[in-house]
Amino acid sequence: MSTTTTLKEIAAQLMRDNKGLLAMDESTNTCNKRFEEVGIPQTEEYRRKYRDLIVNTPGLGRYISGAILFDETIKQNADDGTPFVNILQRNGIIPGIKVDEGAIPMVGFPGEKITEGLDGLGERLKGYYNMGARFAKWRAVITIGAEIPSATCIKANAYTLARYAMFCQEAGLVPIVEPEVVMDGSHSLEKCTEVTTEVLHAVFNALYQHRVDLEGMILKPNMVLPGEDSAEKPSASQVAEATIKCFLRTVPATVPGIAFLSGGQPAELASERLNQMHVQFGDVMPWALTFSYSRAVQQPALEIWKGKDENIVEAQQALLHRAACNSAAKLGKYTAEMESAGYKFQD
Ligand code: 13P
Repeated sequence: MSTTTTLKEIAAQLMRDNKGLLAMDESTNTCNKRFEEVGIPQTEEYRRKYRDLIVNTPGLGRYISGAILFDETIKQNADDGTPFVNILQRNGIIPGIKVDEGAIPMVGFPGEKITEGLDGLGERLKGYYNMGARFAKWRAVITIGAEIPSATCIKANAYTLARYAMFCQEAGLVPIVEPEVVMDGSHSLEKCTEVTTEVLHAVFNALYQHRVDLEGMILKPNMVLPGEDSAEKPSASQVAEATIKCFLRTVPATVPGIAFLSGGQPAELASERLNQMHVQFGDVMPWALTFSYSRAVQQPALEIWKGKDENIVEAQQALLHRAACNSAAKLGKYTAEMESAGYKFQD
C-alpha cells in the first residue's frame, strides 16, 4: 500500500459517518490552568487521572473517531496499567499527537506569535508512530488587533505549518493543519472573514509549495466569528454563511476534511453553529466537516469531576453528552431540545 493511500485512508476514517475528533492534547501549562480554575491539584497524577476518565468513558467511540494526545499522555497508562493508546484503539478511536512545542512571541512583531517545534521533528514523529499515533496536530496562532496580523507573521506561520505537514506525511502520519485566528479582541465578523481568508490562502499556498499531498491532510480552522469583546452577536445562520463562504473560496475541494477548533465558544453554540453549516450548506460542501473540540466537549465534564473519584461517572456522562450533541450536529440533526436531556445523555 502506498503512503498516500494510507494517509487518505486514515483521513477518511477520521472524518467518517457521524464522528469527530476529541482534542485532549492540552499542554501541561494549559491543563494546569484549566485545573486551577476549578480547584483540581495541578500534578502529573491528576492530569493522568483526568485523561483516564476521558479515554475510559463508555461509548465514546460511537461519536469520536480520533483523539489528539499530548506527549505526556501518549506515554501514560490507565489505573489498571493499560496504555491509554491501547484503550483508544480498542474503542475504535485513532490516537493522534500534538507535535508543536507551543506559540511564542514573534521577535520584532509585537503582539504576534510564531509556533516552535520543527527541530528534530522527523525523529519525534518516528517515535510517536511507533507508539501508535497515526495523525498529528500543529497549531499556529494569528491575532487580530491594530495593525496586526502582519503579512510576515501570516507567511512565517504558513511556512512552518507546511514544513510540519510534509514531515508528517513522510512519517506516515496525517497532518492536522491548524491555523487559528483567535477570538481575542473586539474585531467585527467582517474583519475575521478578511483575516481568515488571507490566512487560508497563505496556508494552502505554502502547502502547495512544500509538496504536501492535500488528499492526506485535515484542516483545523476557526469558525469565522466576531471578536469576543465585539458588540456584534451574529446568528448561527450568519456564522455558518460567513464561515462556509470563506472556506469555499480558500480550501481546495481535494482536502478530505475540515475539523473545527472551538476556540472558547460556549459549548452549546459550538454545536449549534456546526449544525447550521450542515443544514444550510450540506449539499454544496466538497469536504467532510466536523468538530475537533477541546473546551467545547470537555469543559462541562471537567467542572463536574473536580478531581474527585465519586464524580467520575457523572463527568463521563457529561463528556459523552457533548460528544453526542456534536455528532448530531455533524449530521445536521442537532436540536436545542437535546440539551434539556442535561448531562444524562442516552441514545
Ligand atoms: P479548543 O476547542 O478548546 O479551541 O481546542 C482545540 C484545539 O485543539 C486547540 O489547539
